[in-house]
Amino acid sequence: ETIRISVENNVDSTELYSQAVDLLNEGEVVAFPTETVYGLGAVATNDQAVKKIFKAKGRPSDNPLIVHIGTIDEVSHYIEYIPENARKCMDAFWPGPLTIVMKAKDNILAPSVTAGLETVGLRMPSHPVALKLLQTLKKPVAAPSANRSGKPSPTKAQHVEEDLQGIIPLILDGGTTGIGLESTVLDVTVNPPVILRPGGVTKEMLEDVIGQVMQPNQEQQKLDSTPKAPGMKYTHYAPNAPVYLIESNKELVHKALIKLKNEGKKVALLAPVSYKELQSDFFFQIDHEGVQLYDALRSCDKTDASIILATATTVEGVGAAIMNRLEKAAGGKWFEAEYE
Ligand code: TXA
Ligand code: MG
Repeated sequence: ETIRISVENNVDSTELYSQAVDLLNEGEVVAFPTETVYGLGAVATNDQAVKKIFKAKGRPSDNPLIVHIGTIDEVSHYIEYIPENARKCMDAFWPGPLTIVMKAKDNILAPSVTAGLETVGLRMPSHPVALKLLQTLKKPVAAPSANRSGKPSPTKAQHVEEDLQGIIPLILDGGTTGIGLESTVLDVTVNPPVILRPGGVTKEMLEDVIGQVMQPNQEQQKLDSTPKAPGMKYTHYAPNAPVYLIESNKELVHKALIKLKNEGKKVALLAPVSYKELQSDFFFQIDHEGVQLYDALRSCDKTDASIILATATTVEGVGAAIMNRLEKAAGGKWFEAEYE
């Protein structure tokens, strides 16, 4: 049985964290909220514990985990040499949704965390529950998103329950997460630094602080035969029914809905609220902030939709992160180009 402890209305009550802290110290895994998505954490120096994360999620062991810390001072415990760019990013964006990939010190973190890489991604989250947990535990916590591998990341405790009920001992419930998209992953071991995963901290925001930053698009990532973010090669955010991207154009979406209906398909439409008036079988609102994206993708699985259409957004600012997740959910499929 999975226990769920609500800390939402009592974020500072140390008592509410004692079970989570004890379980983590005993080498167990615990789900907790961050400002991006819920994480499934284990003490990052305990290899047995970290292995339980991979098992619970059904995650391939060659995909490394992000290490969460409660203070900036701790960085030097895990990192050989802190590049100037990294220091500037920490000062500007921590605590917050930015993961910084740097060269790790040897033999400090559990081998499963880095999946054999020489680097590690560190992040200091800003969610008060995550911070309180880390600062009470006083240990680094390795945590991927708390979903079964391949499913949309959880933005509510209930999503974690849907995926991991009976598999993990405890969920700290801090309500709905803020941003709803995972952190930006920035590799500062290369020059200029490269965004391995776009997120809430945008290219524009990073460039204001450290100058030029590269953000490879989906096509460029595919051409790179050895992806730098190992997670890039796996299926992500996939609901049960196939997802197709479609241009944000009401006339086009309208025609697509008619065509699909004539074929006897049941359609779930993910689009801005103004598309609600079109006659789709199911409608879930997504906007240009990304907050409801994973909830909308998960909601499709509670319908009997046989196909999902999602309207594209711009790739400016946070739009880059939203389109990145939508393209992964769709496996790169566009309605116009591929559907017949
Ligand atoms: O917002 C987030 O980052 C959430 C919350 C829980 O903090 N965590 C999260 O973790 O999204 P996960 O494991 O689902 O995604 C981590 C991503 C993966 O794409 C992984 O390949 C990449 O970061 N990554 C981790 N360590 C890396 C490293 N050393 N080098 C390159 N990529 C790395
Ligand atoms: Mg994930």
